[in-house]
Amino acid sequence: TKTHRIALIPGDGIGTEVVPAARKVLDVVSERHGIELTYTEFDWSCERYLREGAMMPDDGMERLREHDAILLGAVGYPGVPDHVSLWGLLIPIRRSFRQYVNLRPIRVFEGVPSPLRTAAAGEVDFVIVRENVEGEYSQVGGRLYQGFPEEVAIQEAIFTRAGVTRILDYAFDLAARRGGRLTSATKSNGIVHTMPFWDELVAERAIHHPGVTWDQEHIDALAAKFVLQPGRFDVVVGSNLFGDILSDLAAAIAGSIGIAPSANLNPEREFPSMFEPVHGSAPDIAGRGIANPLGTVWSAALMLDHLGHPRAASDITDAIATVLAKGATITPDLGGSATTDELTEALIQAL
Ligand code: NAD
Ligand code: IPM
Ligand code: MN
Repeated sequence: TKTHRIALIPGDGIGTEVVPAARKVLDVVSERHGIELTYTEFDWSCERYLREGAMMPDDGMERLREHDAILLGAVGYPGVPDHVSLWGLLIPIRRSFRQYVNLRPIRVFEGVPSPLRTAAAGEVDFVIVRENVEGEYSQVGGRLYQGFPEEVAIQEAIFTRAGVTRILDYAFDLAARRGGRLTSATKSNGIVHTMPFWDELVAERAIHHPGVTWDQEHIDALAAKFVLQPGRFDVVVGSNLFGDILSDLAAAIAGSIGIAPSANLNPEREFPSMFEPVHGSAPDIAGRGIANPLGTVWSAALMLDHLGHPRAASDITDAIATVLAKGATITPDLGGSATTDELTEALIQAL
């Protein structure tokens, strides 16, 4: 059997609490399925930045490259500006490893109270496919004349035919493997040059995926539909910023941002892909041992699936469903009083 080399980057805040939890679950599942995983742990974080002046060492990317996958907690902490922590670690990994797909599955599990009465357990099950390397998150622009009355901030959105085409093809293919329905998030009714281009490419790619039924919604109306009819979605594709906003909204609909997982995929497998919860470092609850580990545990399941172990992955999501359905051992974000460790232990029992 092949050994998979996993890079662990716990990062900051609750990242250092939820990554060890996921590791414990991985240990149990990999043993059971005879999967060999070896780990390298990296202390790359805001703490390292304050100590050494950089989030990661100069050869950080080369060291990551020697791995088959990356499991990351979260980066960002008060005292270090977000543009330093994120552009010093998370964003370079997504970009230099061409992780242009950000996959974010959403499920309303049995036993988890959604804040919405429109979100019935078992009926909400969809995936957001977020474009992950271009769009509104571009490096083109900047700030000038700081502190003067002429001060200006400029941000260009970059949409390329190649970049939009590949994310759309990924989303159409995924829809074909799932329920056969794709929704595209757009805003072509606004004064935005990029979105009519996006829409044209959706219509063009649809011709190549005749088995998929598709529609498009303006992002504002789509946000409302997420709330009013969350059960009607199968695959939702959106640009970098639209996908970002929709994924926190969807996570909240599913009961807590603490559950939501993500996979930053390099579909060509030229580079390692990265798996991380949707949430951040949650400084407001860090250090208290009450962070929900399920977003990271589910991300670890996505990692196993990506590494070619779908049965081990579904064992993990089944254990998550079992623990949530029982409802006895859940963290405060879900309305319970369990600690991170207790929830992790309950998962291991369910396995
Ligand atoms: P956040 O996701 O860290 O927190 C938002 C809210 O959700 C907080 O109230 C938090 O307590 C709660 N929450 C988040 N995860 C939880 C969990 N697992 N269990 C229980 N409750 C949870 O978002 P934010 O406050 O906007 O950002 C905090 C920091 O994290 C910032 O520095 C931000 O840039 C960074 N961030 C990093 C990533 C990443 O590394 N991928 C993602 C998002 C935010
Ligand atoms: C996410 C996060 C990041 C993003 C931030 C921290 C840069 O919100 O992974 O959703 O916007 O991509
Ligand atoms: Mn986000």
